[in-house]
Formats: sequence, structure tokens, C-alpha cells
Amino acid sequence: MNEAVEAACALLRAGEVVALPTETVYGLAADALNPEAAAKVFAAKERPSFDPLIVHIARRRELSSVACVPAEISGTVEKLAAAFWPGPLTLILPKQPELPDIVTSGLPTVAVRCSAHPVFRAVGKELGGPIAAPSANRFGRISPTSAAAVIKELGGRIPLVVDGGACPEGLESTIVSIETREGKKPLFHLHRAGPVTKEMLQPFGKVVKAKEKTGDAPHAPGQLPSHYAPVTPLVLLENPDDFKPEPGKRYGLLSYRGEGPYVERHEWEVVEALSPGSGKLAEAAIRLFHVMRVLDESGVDCIVAEPVSETGLGVAIMDRLRRAAAER
Ligand code: TXA
Ligand code: MG
Repeated sequence: MNEAVEAACALLRAGEVVALPTETVYGLAADALNPEAAAKVFAAKERPSFDPLIVHIARRRELSSVACVPAEISGTVEKLAAAFWPGPLTLILPKQPELPDIVTSGLPTVAVRCSAHPVFRAVGKELGGPIAAPSANRFGRISPTSAAAVIKELGGRIPLVVDGGACPEGLESTIVSIETREGKKPLFHLHRAGPVTKEMLQPFGKVVKAKEKTGDAPHAPGQLPSHYAPVTPLVLLENPDDFKPEPGKRYGLLSYRGEGPYVERHEWEVVEALSPGSGKLAEAAIRLFHVMRVLDESGVDCIVAEPVSETGLGVAIMDRLRRAAAER
């Protein structure tokens, strides 16, 4: 067995937390059945206790160890799992009583996914039990898509970061809950847009946006208006002509292709492109959090973001940009 996988498992068995790569973003992992270990995840991230963790299983058949799937949705769950697991889809299901309440923040439901990343899967299989893992960033900040980004977020707070290179999807998993409807296809409530797009889910059911809750106990705090945010203020401009620079301020542009009307609009201090030249949404998704971080560290006073087209993966990219731009 790989030395890093072995070291990660030893720490997880000892009730410690470890940062691991997934195909979406790096996760801060803990043994999901150990409440003290889960408490360390909340502490390292400074995450409020009302924000539940995602639980990861290594194989589809392990779903029953963390969730009780009601008979009326079991056929749909099986179809979704067969189509998208392992992969970036998280399902909200009734929880198994053995799962500690701290993991689900006292909710009767659990968010479950099965990561496709070879390192994460190897650790899960070797550990032989479910892994709780939110994104490995401090609460509300930019999700890490590289080991270096994890170290910037949590360095000095956690005993190990396993470096699996850059995350191949770059955006957090799609989160859905399932509602059955008499004589009709099921309804999927989309709690967070992600790499599994609406178009990909549609053959299995009707996709609607989950109602967003605000206040102290939100449904999914990743869905709070302000999240995934750089320290530097970020504004998302629907139109290049909306840009009115203030004298003396230094601006950085988060551009889609690194060319075009937004780039030409101003003498930018720095321009970072999501998909240089070609304009491909999949590449933009992979690079989004990295580029946000680079601009955040560039020393500009304000980051101006250009919109991407809201189709396919563009929906998840625009969701993250809007939340990064939301007032804090
Ligand atoms: O791609 C991902 O999902 C990554 C990797 C590491 O797996 N994880 C991730 O976790 O993004 P986190 O904690 O950053 O985001 C999980 C979101 C949070 O917004 C949380 O509120 C929501 O899932 N969530 C967790 N359990 C839930 C539940 N039972 N009901 C509703 N939302 C839930
Ligand atoms: Mg997160």
C-alpha cells in the first residue's frame, strides 16, 4: 500500500483529521463514526456547528451503513448511484442512527457521496468505514483545489495533507434531495449546483432549485449568500460598461478567456483568465478557485469578475462567483 494512504489511515484511526484530494476539491477528512474526530474538523475549519459535513463512502454498497433509504426513493437512488457514483454527486437522505449527530449537525438527514479520486478511494477502502469530509478551507473561504492551497488555509492546524495534485473537477459536488411524485418522475431539489449538471440529472427526474433558507440554521450553509469568498472584495459585472473605476484604486480582472471587451475596458493591474484563449467551461471550472486565490493574493484593492454563460457547468461557476461577490 502507498505510504501516504497508510499514514492517512493511521491518523484517521487515531481520531485525527487529514486533508485528502477528491475529484472536486480537497476535503478535510475524519472518521465519520467518531464524534471527537468530527469535532476536530469543525475546530480546524472554524466551522459553525450548525453546518453539517458530507459523508463519503468508498463503495456504492456501503450506502446503507450511513443512510436509511426509504422504499419509495430506493429505485431512483440506485439509478443515480449507478450513473454518477463514484463521482461528484451528493445525495441528501435520511441518516442511519449510528452516525453521530455532530456530523449532521443534529439533522435527521445525511449528505452522502462516493468520491472517484483514487487516493480518497484507497483511504476509504483501507479504513473500511465512512469518512466525513467538508472542503479543506476555513469557513466561508475559497475551497482548495491543490495541496498548496490547503496548506495556506489550514497549515499548522492539521497533521497531514496528502498531495494528489490538482483536483480534476475543481468545483464542489452537486447536492440534491429527492422527492417522489405519484405517477410522475421524481423531483430533484438542487441544493448546490456542481459538476453533475441539470442536463445530466434530467433523464432521471425533474430538477428544481431547492428553497434557500437564511438565518442561523440554513439548509446548506454552502448556500449562504456569502461563501467561497476571497478576502479582497469581488464584484461580478454583467456588462463591461458597468465598470466605473474609482481613482487611485487597483483592480484585477477575473476574465473568462483573457481577451475581449472586459480586458480592453481598463488598464488592469493584473488579468487572470479562467480558460485562456479557448473559453471552455470545464477548464474554467477547474481553474476558478485557483484564479480567485491568485487574484486575492495579488494585492489589488478589488477583483472584477466577468460572467460566463449560464449553461451546463456555467451554472455552478456563476453560483460560486455570485456567492464570492455577495456582501459579507
Ligand atoms: O465536493 C464536495 O462535496 C466536497 C468534497 C470534499 O467532497 N465537500 C464539500 O463539503 O464541499 P462542504 O462541507 O464544504 O459542503 C457541504 C455542503 C454544506 O453546504 C452543508 O451545509 C451541506 O453540504 N450539507 C451537508 N449535510 C447536509 C444535509 N443533511 N442537508 C442539507 N445540506 C447538507
Ligand atoms: Mg465548503
